[in-house]
Amino acid sequence: MLNRQELQDAFLSHFGQPAALTVHAPGRVNLIGEHTDYNGGFVFPAAINFGTWIAACKRSDNQVVAVAMDINGNENSFYLDDIQFDHNQSWANYVRGVVKMLQQAYPDINGMSLMITGNVPQGAGLSSSASFEIALLRAFSDAYGLSLTGVEAALLGQKAENDFVGCSCGIMDQLVSALGGEDQAMLLDCEALTYRHTTLPDELAIVIINSNVKRGLVDSEYNIRREQCEEAAGVLQVTSLRHATLEQLEQHKPELKNTVYQRAHHVITENARTLAMFDALEAGDIAKVSQVMAESHVSMRDDFEITVPQIDFLVEQIAQVVGDKGGVRMTGGGFGGCVVALIPKKLVEKVSDTVNNFYYSHTGLTAAIYVCSAERGAFA
Ligand code: GLA
Repeated sequence: MLNRQELQDAFLSHFGQPAALTVHAPGRVNLIGEHTDYNGGFVFPAAINFGTWIAACKRSDNQVVAVAMDINGNENSFYLDDIQFDHNQSWANYVRGVVKMLQQAYPDINGMSLMITGNVPQGAGLSSSASFEIALLRAFSDAYGLSLTGVEAALLGQKAENDFVGCSCGIMDQLVSALGGEDQAMLLDCEALTYRHTTLPDELAIVIINSNVKRGLVDSEYNIRREQCEEAAGVLQVTSLRHATLEQLEQHKPELKNTVYQRAHHVITENARTLAMFDALEAGDIAKVSQVMAESHVSMRDDFEITVPQIDFLVEQIAQVVGDKGGVRMTGGGFGGCVVALIPKKLVEKVSDTVNNFYYSHTGLTAAIYVCSAERGAFA
């Protein structure tokens, strides 16, 4: 990754003029509320101090020229009146998709030169793509005076991903990248698109442990989970699982395939856990935080079936060190990626030592540990 000055210098030497603006959007970690967003439910993420930076300048023609500094200075360009999917440079489809959706809402935008760098680990469940989309939207909004709101930007980013890139993701990642708060986590209501911030207790650190398990199945399995949730909502005759209760689920159990029942069970209980975790953090009840994060992990492992053995191992090891003084669970879409832990700062070293001592010998993989802070979103 380049630092801000290096990015601006690279822009000048590549485009022959200085960047008019440099913007940033963070990645995110989800503390709890997994696979609830596309069910109209609740999620509780924080924006983190890893993100995407873009140096940009308007162009007088209708061309977008984007350079990915972290992918060997790869360049991709296209015209606004002919935006097609690029099968050769997959990263460029985020630019193409975002610009296409933005242009539908704001037909007067023109071309842009963009130079991109970032440090969100890719494929780790920390939303490198949402951070990229939101940074692009911030750049266009500033350059063309669009005054996009955070919610508008999030919806455009999600649309780009759903309708252009081809992943049926929910709204969580884009919303928190746009609207996260410094030192805060956000409880998002993904149906109403409303949110409440809560300040994270000073004595707790957000620690992310990257299992470095490649998330091979993520897109196909993600889309299957989404379909199974929709199937359950159909049988339960609710608009989304957000509006289903455990009683209704039990009533309809005989009509549901077992896997579909399990998926719905995860979503309904996860929504309740997410609200409980927000209240527990507000009340400083860390033992409760510990309990709901542990239950969330078990539910993702047994009901939603999105964890992998390496991730389960990390969660067990860390839980043994932390006990009820903090919480730990898998975070993100699943099938690899990261574990998130909220732990007392004085236990961070012990947790790192445990991971370093046991993870490699048990799995043959090396984990990366990031002690994070919660940051402000790009539109906050
Ligand atoms: C991915 C998606 C989000 C959300 C999570 C699972 O990160 O992009 O919308 O569904 O998975 O909670």
